[in-house]
Amino acid sequence: MPAVSAITASRSESPERTDWTPFSWRSRPGVQMPVYPDATALAAAQDELRTLPPLVTSREILSLQQQLAEAQEGKRFLLQGGDCAETFAECSSDTITNRLKVLLQMSLVLVHGLKLPVVRVGRFAGQYAKPRSADLETRDGVSLPSYRGDIVNSPDFTATAREPDPRRMIKAHARSAMTMNFVRSLIDGGFADLHHPEFWELGWVEQSPHAADYQRMVANIGDAVRFTETLAGRKMQSLSRVDFYTSHEALLLPYEEAQTRRVPRADGWFNLSTHFPWIGMRTAAPEGAHLEYFRGIRNPVAVKVGPSVTPDALLRLVDALNPEDVPGRLGLIHRMGAGHIAETLPALLDAVKREGRRVLWICDPMHGNTESTSNGYKTRRFANIRSEIEQAFDLHAAAGTRLGGVHLEMTGENVTECLGGARELTEIDLQRDYRSTVDPRLNYEQALEIAMLIVKKRGAMAA
Ligand code: PEP
Ligand code: CO
Repeated sequence: MPAVSAITASRSESPERTDWTPFSWRSRPGVQMPVYPDATALAAAQDELRTLPPLVTSREILSLQQQLAEAQEGKRFLLQGGDCAETFAECSSDTITNRLKVLLQMSLVLVHGLKLPVVRVGRFAGQYAKPRSADLETRDGVSLPSYRGDIVNSPDFTATAREPDPRRMIKAHARSAMTMNFVRSLIDGGFADLHHPEFWELGWVEQSPHAADYQRMVANIGDAVRFTETLAGRKMQSLSRVDFYTSHEALLLPYEEAQTRRVPRADGWFNLSTHFPWIGMRTAAPEGAHLEYFRGIRNPVAVKVGPSVTPDALLRLVDALNPEDVPGRLGLIHRMGAGHIAETLPALLDAVKREGRRVLWICDPMHGNTESTSNGYKTRRFANIRSEIEQAFDLHAAAGTRLGGVHLEMTGENVTECLGGARELTEIDLQRDYRSTVDPRLNYEQALEIAMLIVKKRGAMAA
């Protein structure tokens, strides 16, 4: 997948931790993980996972870290996006291709508009575990364990379906590998070739309110590519491929632990199930199991930062996860909500800046803006998502820090889950094609619109 660039050892290495093992998280309080009824079956599934091939390599992981370090310095912009949760059933050719198409189209808009290379990170090939607000779900007086994502149990409301099954980890690994394999083949086969952006067209693109803008941009890029190649007298191979990386919330630690390995020519332990794991907001307690696990792996990592995090707590997190201040090691994904960001973010930006810590600031404009409609849908308003991103740019500019990327929940399908956008989806529209079993995602048009408004906002700020 990614073309591996040379990494200078001194910049990317952190010393091996002698007080850490892939299992040391087990002695810390762990939340949001299932209690498996059969410990022997769990251990057997973990043993099997340990023998299966890894999904990514340490070289790819370090090459991503290098790109994230460049994003920290303002030389790149991070686009991280995908489903709230993948499901085993949706591991299909169309879903994967459409998701990739949207991410490629968005990154094209960003590269063209920001005049910066984009770091492309999919929220897929492993995004199967979900935190839940309650351990139990009650329907008509019957209480069962909550659905925690396909890697843990099944959403059907029966006792058997909801029982955590460790064999699901093997299936999640296999589905992740299939997803990754297909993405790698598409990219290696020229799917991301800038000479052929028409490969990324989705069926309904012509009816999109953004179609004309997008087509104009593609035509401009095509002209520029032809012009440059004519001048150079040769085809530019570097335009034929892109780097693509994966990420997921590393929530289910028995799974992550079993994918954590040493590799022949690098120090330390790598989580080889994904390039860029993150810690969710509900599992980021400083003394918790997830912090303990994350501090010892060599991957670049990120943490979700919600409105209740204080500057002191944030600095403790930064110290725990990146004590040596390694460039590209740590992303902080703020997700405050459009109504809270102005009051909560500035103190955090100031604290990190005051301490001179190196982090990549990323805005998740989705998770602080979730609400329920009167007709019972969990949704998000496009206007709030847009407002949180725009405020984030302004607040970073005011603090003298840099917003280096965005983290989005989106899909290549034409779903109706978020309200608003150019087509002005209403509560009635939500009934038409609401598919998410968890959080509402931007559909194709809304996602492309977000990329365009990021470009517009940055352009307005530079002017
Ligand atoms: C998520 O990213 O799907 C999620 C649960 O986010 P958060 O941890 O920010 O609530
Ligand atoms: Co979500």
